Amino acid sequence: MTDEKIIQMDMGTLTGDVCDNRPALCLGIESSCDETSAALVDSNRNILAHIIYSQIPEHQKYGGVVPELAARAHILAIDAVVNQTLARAGKNIDDIDVVAATAGPGLIGGVLVGWMAATGIAQSAGKPLIAVNHLEGHALVPRLRATLADGTDAPRGVEFPYLLMLASGGHCQILLVRGVGQYELVGQTLDDSAGEAFDKVAKMLGLGYPGGPIVDARAQQGNPKAFRFPRPLCDKPGCDFSFSGIKTAARTFLERAEMPLTEKYINDFCASFQAAVVDCITNRLENALKDERVRHGAPQTLVVAGGVAKNSAIRAAMEKMAIKNNMIFAAPPMNLCTDNGAMIAWAGLENYAVGKVVHEPIAPRPRWPLTEL
Ligand code: KG4
Ligand code: ZN
Repeated sequence: MTDEKIIQMDMGTLTGDVCDNRPALCLGIESSCDETSAALVDSNRNILAHIIYSQIPEHQKYGGVVPELAARAHILAIDAVVNQTLARAGKNIDDIDVVAATAGPGLIGGVLVGWMAATGIAQSAGKPLIAVNHLEGHALVPRLRATLADGTDAPRGVEFPYLLMLASGGHCQILLVRGVGQYELVGQTLDDSAGEAFDKVAKMLGLGYPGGPIVDARAQQGNPKAFRFPRPLCDKPGCDFSFSGIKTAARTFLERAEMPLTEKYINDFCASFQAAVVDCITNRLENALKDERVRHGAPQTLVVAGGVAKNSAIRAAMEKMAIKNNMIFAAPPMNLCTDNGAMIAWAGLENYAVGKVVHEPIAPRPRWPLTEL
């Protein structure tokens, strides 16, 4: 669709997070990778309904996400996912105050499906529209719901500023989150993301897709000292990551291994690989805490978000690190770590509260760094 074909919307006068003395209600849509998801979230942090349609079974036989198949699956699912979300909450389009959707970064075919659906709904119902950066969805969702180290929920979500380890299938960054739209990049991966490393190692071992949860479960039964994986960059200053060396080491170990691999070999391999990833993350975060910008920003909370935030060993290591540094540790609940519509609805509400609505046609973006917000 060309920009000219997108009809300019009347955004009305709604701003702020409260409409007529009641909480603002946002419909959020996510479709940037292999989940078609929608959620209704209000500005009092209630999740009224949330549906995540995962395409994982459709991609599993290819060992990863196939972009064309993903886009097609989003097209087939999007209407049902949105309609069922509304039905579950007993709401209709008129009850919504604002519509938000992922406008990038991600697989562009899928992003377009969700974005065009949201644009259509917003235009036809005369509602404000928010273009959410997918990474911002991950970065802000701990403010919607966060589980603290003691297992209780942070009553009002995490407060700004916080130091964020954002680790997903597509990204691996350390960010100082100062406020909505205020993200300072402290470190990032120079090659693969952490999630990619988990997925690739699982693929090498023939464990299936997505690899993260499988490697995590296997690692819990293995010996983390059985294999000596490298810890790239850990002897260097700075906060950047590199996971390609760990992946190469994995391949080299496997070339020398006796086939078929035993269960013990696989478990030990996963435990040793995961220990290397955890060491890299803690090493880089330790440096981040000493970084001048971070010290100046004085974050009180250490947060992990993104799909890899589900990892038990990463959560445990970061919790330990938070205690050592007199910080609070927080992470989103498990179902809000991997891609979901609730994080997009919440980021939509946070942007709506600061008046960041779409006033002109925009083109969804396959690449959209958080620092450009
Ligand atoms: O955030 P997400 O759903 O998608 C992207 O935005 O990329 O993250 C998906 C990634 C996958 O690479 C998956 O293997 C990883 O999160 N993941 C995990 C775990 N659960 C999911 N990685 C490590 N340990 C886990 N338990
Ligand atoms: Zn994601």
